[in-house]
This record gives sequence, C-alpha cells and structure tokens, in this order.
Amino acid sequence: MAVMGLETLVAACGPVGLSTGVSKLLTLLVTIQAAALASFGGGPNFDPKYFVDIPLRFSVNETARAFDALPRSQNNTIEPRELDQFVKEYFNPPGSDLIPSTPKDFNPNPPNFLPRVQNLSARSWALQIHGLWLELTRKVSPSVAKEPNLHTLVPLSHPVVVPGARFREVYYWDSYWVIKGLLVSGMLDTATGVVENLMELVEKYGFVPNGARIYYENRSQPPLLSMMIRAVYGKTHDQTLLKRAMPVLLKEYAFWTSEPHEVRVRDKYGEEHRLSRFWANWNTPRPESFTIDLNVTQGMNKTRQAQLYHDIATAAESGWDFSSRWMEDQQNLRTLRTSMIIPADLNAYLFQMEKNIEYFAKVLGNQTIETRFASAAKDRQRAIQRIHWSRKKGQWFDAWLSPTRCSLSKSDNRTVIYEWKQNQLTYASNFIPLWAGVLPKGDMRKEKVIEALNRSGLVQPAGIATSLRNTGQQWDFPNAWAPVVDMIIEGLDASGFARGKLMAKEIARNWLRSNYVAFEQVGKMIEKYDATSCGKIGGGGEYNPQTGFGWSNGVVLSLLQKYGWPAAEPFLCPEFS
Ligand SMILES: *[C@@H]1O[C@H](CO)[C@@H](O)[C@H](O)[C@H]1NC(C)=O
Ligand SMILES: *[C@@H]1O[C@H](CO)[C@@H](O)[C@H](O)[C@H]1NC(C)=O
Ligand SMILES: *[C@@H]1O[C@H](CO)[C@@H](O)[C@H](O)[C@H]1NC(C)=O
Ligand SMILES: *[C@@H]1O[C@H](CO)[C@@H](O)[C@H](O)[C@H]1NC(C)=O
Ligand SMILES: *[C@@H]1O[C@H](CO)[C@@H](O)[C@H](O)[C@H]1NC(C)=O
Ligand SMILES: *[C@@H]1O[C@H](CO)[C@@H](O)[C@H](O)[C@H]1NC(C)=O
Ligand SMILES: *[C@@H]1O[C@H](CO)[C@@H](O)[C@H](O)[C@H]1NC(C)=O
Ligand SMILES: *[C@@H]1O[C@H](CO)[C@@H](O)[C@H](O)[C@H]1NC(C)=O
Ligand SMILES: *[C@@H]1O[C@H](CO)[C@@H](O)[C@H](O)[C@H]1NC(C)=O
Repeated sequence: MAVMGLETLVAACGPVGLSTGVSKLLTLLVTIQAAALASFGGGPNFDPKYFVDIPLRFSVNETARAFDALPRSQNNTIEPRELDQFVKEYFNPPGSDLIPSTPKDFNPNPPNFLPRVQNLSARSWALQIHGLWLELTRKVSPSVAKEPNLHTLVPLSHPVVVPGARFREVYYWDSYWVIKGLLVSGMLDTATGVVENLMELVEKYGFVPNGARIYYENRSQPPLLSMMIRAVYGKTHDQTLLKRAMPVLLKEYAFWTSEPHEVRVRDKYGEEHRLSRFWANWNTPRPESFTIDLNVTQGMNKTRQAQLYHDIATAAESGWDFSSRWMEDQQNLRTLRTSMIIPADLNAYLFQMEKNIEYFAKVLGNQTIETRFASAAKDRQRAIQRIHWSRKKGQWFDAWLSPTRCSLSKSDNRTVIYEWKQNQLTYASNFIPLWAGVLPKGDMRKEKVIEALNRSGLVQPAGIATSLRNTGQQWDFPNAWAPVVDMIIEGLDASGFARGKLMAKEIARNWLRSNYVAFEQVGKMIEKYDATSCGKIGGGGEYNPQTGFGWSNGVVLSLLQKYGWPAAEPFLCPEFS
C-alpha cells in the first residue's frame, strides 16, 4: 500500500510512524486523511476524525488498490474532485454503521417526571431534553461484528447513547452523566445497557477505552465505571449486577494501579505512597487527529516527537484535552507533559472506585475484598492528603514529577520513587476531591475548601470556569463543562456546611439558566459553555463546538431534579430579567 499523502506530510514534518500494532485499516484511513488535508487544504470544516470513522464498502486491500490508483499531480496531491468521488464510491458515510434505535423504555411523558419543575417553560425545556435520548440512542449495526475489518467501530451488544455530532460513538466518562440523566428520565434498562457495554469493553481490553473505536483502544478516560454501577444499583438494588460487575471492576482497578499508571512518591516525612497518573499506550499522532498532531510536533527530533505524541494521547486519556493544566509553560501544546503529572482528580476518582468496590463487596458478603479495598481507600486518602492537599490554600493541587530526580524505594531496590512538587495553579480539578469524599463527614477542612473555591476566581456568573488562563484550548478559561460543574455542585451540596449548600444552589441555578437561554437561542444543547456570560456557548480547541449533547443533557436533568424550578421564577439570564 502506498502512503503517498502521508509521505508528503511526513517529509515536511519529520519522520514519524504509527505505533506498532496499528491495523492495516487504520493505516489506510490515516493515509487517506492526510491526502484529504493536502487536497482539500484544511479549514475550519475539515475534520480529520471524519476519515477514520467512514466504514469501508469493500475490502481493505481493494480500497487501498483503488486509492493508490488515483491520479496524482506533480506535487503528489490528488484533485479534490477525484478524492471526493473516491470517498463516496468506496465508503459509507460516517455514523452509518450506527443505526438509530428507539429505546424500549422511553416514554415521551414519563410519569412523575421532575415534579418540582413547575415553571411551564422550564418543564417544556426539560421534556425536550428528555426527548433528545431518542436522537442520541443507536444500535451498532450487525455488519460491524460480521465484518470488523471494514469498521473502526467496536461492536457492542446493547444500544448505545452517544454524546452527539462528531462524537458518534460511545465515550467512557461521558457515560456517567448520560446515565444520571437516563435515570431521571426513568430509562433504567437503557442505563443498564450502557453499563453492560462498558463492562464488555473491560472484558475485552482490560480497561474501558476512551471510546468504542479501535483508534481509542490504547488509552482510557477518567475511571467512573464504578460510579455508573453504583448509580444504577441505587435504583434497582439488583445484586446480579454487582456480582457481574465485581470481576470487571477488579480488572479495571488493576489497570489503573499497576505500572506505568501507578507511581511511587515520598512525602515530607519520608513515607512512601502509591498514586496514579494518566498514561496512554501510544506515542505517535492520534489517528483521529493525525494531521493536527503532526503539525504540533513540527521541527522536533524523533525522540522528542514520540514523547510529545505520548503526552498528547495521555491528555486525551485525562478527559481534559487540551488544557494549560498539562503544559509546562501553560500556553503551548508543545510543552505538554501530561504523563509526568499526578492529577488530583484522577486519584479522587480512584479513591471513589475503592470505596465503591468496598461497598459492593460488603453487599455481596465478600469480606476479603471488602477489607482489601477499605484499606486501599484509606491508603489513597492518606496519600492524597500528603501529596495533593494544601492546608494553606484549601484545595488539592496536581503533583508534578521530576523527569530527572528520583531514587529507589527503601523497601526494595527496583521501585523508583519520583521527586515531585505541587503546581500551585488554580484549576477546577483541584476541587474534585471534595466531591469524591476524600475528606470525611464533619471534617472542618471542608469549610476551607468552600472558602478557597469562593475566592478562586473559577466561580463565574454562568458556571465554573475550568481554569483561570485563556489559552484558546477548550479545557481552559472561560469554558465551563457540565461534568465538572456537576461534580463541584454535588461536592458543595454534600459538604455539610450551609455556605457550601447555598453556593451549590446558586451555581446550579446559574448553570441551568445559562443552558436554557443558550437553548432558546440556538435550539440545541452544547458540549461546553462560557462561564463568564449567561447564555453563551464555549469555543476554542481542535474542533467546532459540538451539539447533542449527552453529558450536558444529563447534568441539566439531574440538577432540575435536585433543585426543581418554582412556577413563578423567571428562567432568564439575570441581566435580562
Ligand atoms: C493498542 O491496543 C491494542 C489492543 O489492545 C493492541 O493490540 C496494540 O498492540 C496496542 N498498540 C500499541 C502501540 O501499544
Ligand atoms: C491483502 O494484501 C496483502 C499484501 O498487500 C496480502 O498479503 C493479503 O493476503 C491480502 N489480503 C486479502 C484478504 O486478500
Ligand atoms: C498542488 O498542485 C495543484 C495543481 O497541480 C495545486 O492546485 C495545489 O494547490 C498544489 N498543492 C500544494 C500543497 O502545493
Ligand atoms: C499548524 O500550527 C500552526 C501554529 O503552530 C498554525 O498556525 C497552523 O494553522 C496549523 N496548521 C494546521 C493545518 O493545523
Ligand atoms: C532531541 O530534542 C531534545 C529536546 O529538544 C533534546 O533534548 C535531545 O537531546 C534531542 N535528541 C537528539 C537525539 O538529538
Ligand atoms: C471473594 O472474591 C474473591 C475474588 O473474586 C474470590 O476469590 C473469593 O472466593 C470471594 N470470597 C467469597 C467468600 O465469596
Ligand atoms: C536487590 O535486591 C535483591 C533482593 O532483594 C538482591 O538479591 C540484589 O542483590 C539487590 N541488588 C542490589 C544492586 O542491591
Ligand atoms: C463568596 O462569599 C461571599 C460572602 O459570603 C458571597 O457574597 C459571594 O457571593 C461568594 N462568592 C461566590 C463566587 O460564591
Ligand atoms: C417561567 O419562566 C419563563 C421563562 O423565563 C418566564 O417567561 C415566565 O414568566 C415564568 N413563568 C411564570 C409563571 O413566572
């Protein structure tokens, strides 16, 4: 197979190859993606992901032969018309291997739906969002399992609920907020199916991939599967689910707590701790953003490129792709060093996973597992307080590992102990451990956290900004993301302090208003919003803002359930009301 388009790019950007273990299918699609960029010339509507999502109509070999046979001009590009024709002839449209599916448990007017939402406009909006499950639910076409070589999609047994727009497939951490929304909508079977799909993926890969595509199978996403299981179990109290889930969660837990995800560090008292970091098993351009990633590493030597590709893919594993949070200079993607950071939020999620497994084991009567995970959670709680917590600043900072300074463990002579330091920068993730329950009930330090958040500058009129830096990246100021807003609201609400509860309510109202007004304006739910201005949608990053949108919908439904909306309360931005 010729790699004409790719060679052109590679010649310009330095020699890089795909990681080993990449299928012929992906290599072909990435080659076509590169040819398309050369031919169509990029632009805001050029989405590299399109070219790794299109299902083949004929075999890989036949498609490759036809692609090779396309006429090239002297500079090695293919005429746009020729390429367009080729794509139409040899591929089906992206997403055509996901068939719309009406969930059996969908009721357009569910009984007892959001009884506390009484304002009629708000109710009508909530019902419209509820109705969006119809648009976002799909079944993987049987042809995918029959002819896996023609699809990058991974087959799944149950209907899937996708985020929307270019995110045509299932995503890992998105699914938690999708499930929260489905449960408000009374769609327990669909929610259970979403969990079943993710468990199947763990059985297949040993972890939940970033999303259900073969190009996502070398990295995960924030590990919230145990939270999803807990949410569903909370409604059904069905122990069969827990029995089925236990070995799956133990497998996923092993993935996150073994090297290279797990690292060892020593606190200032000389005590050693185990904590985890994000770490993608990938060191070449991401297939779904191949052409973008190539551009980022221009002019670097091969070693440095491989390292940066790894940190790019690792940022994608973190869910925060991309953010100044992972950058050495806090502004340039070329300084990403995601894999050398111990994230406060990841360890909060793992603490929660440990508590959930402990709880499930208790329900199932398995004392061995219960004891093991109670102890693991205790260790991690201690580690988080020693490594991430700042008493002075009342929040949990990421810890940056030194790439050059390390020593060997006292207990054996093989384990590396990294030197580290807290980064002291303000990110919304610094407050996720509050949500995860890292501080026990009644702990007075929670008051400090509430105060720190209040003064952080992150709490804005229309939500919680992701960071304080405007880098043009999507996980930075002024963008606010539903999942982060939801976790912080829940953390404040459950803090046990009146001030925290009040703050939670105010943030929730502002968030709901902003989502509502944006919906009135554009007729859609969006993946991210602008925290600084009610009704304004977010921007920045490597693609246009996407609509749909799974986790935003889930958070609105869940906040409406929690807080309700009185009949006579105007549902407008404060400046208009
Ligand atoms: C990516 O993951 C797949 C499936 O687990 C594996 O076969 C392949 O070798 C991995 N690729 C790399 C570069 O590790
Ligand atoms: C596809 O082509 C390769 C050589 O390019 C060959 O080894 C392989 O057998 C072919 N596969 C099929 C299914 O024809
Ligand atoms: C390649 O050549 C074609 C015409 O031969 C031209 O339209 C196109 O702009 C050129 N592309 C590049 C990247 O130089
Ligand atoms: C490549 O990166 C530069 C900045 O480093 C940017 O100006 C340019 O638009 C990028 N090109 C593409 C095709 O993404
Ligand atoms: C590659 O670049 C990095 C950083 O720019 C530098 O530290 C390293 O020595 C270079 N390696 C080679 C083999 O030139
Ligand atoms: C508890 O779970 C472990 C691991 O799955 C298993 O080996 C053990 O038999 C279980 N013990 C009981 C009492 O069920
Ligand atoms: C490392 O430890 C092992 C056993 O704990 C021992 O056999 C070995 O000699 C040690 N190596 C060094 C270099 O100390
Ligand atoms: C912070 O606290 C003050 C005093 O309680 C309050 O007036 C203000 O609204 C709070 N700010 C935020 C962002 O919650
Ligand atoms: C409900 O909210 C809408 C939209 O903000 C507002 O126009 C309407 O007046 C509210 N209903 C009542 C009864 O106040």
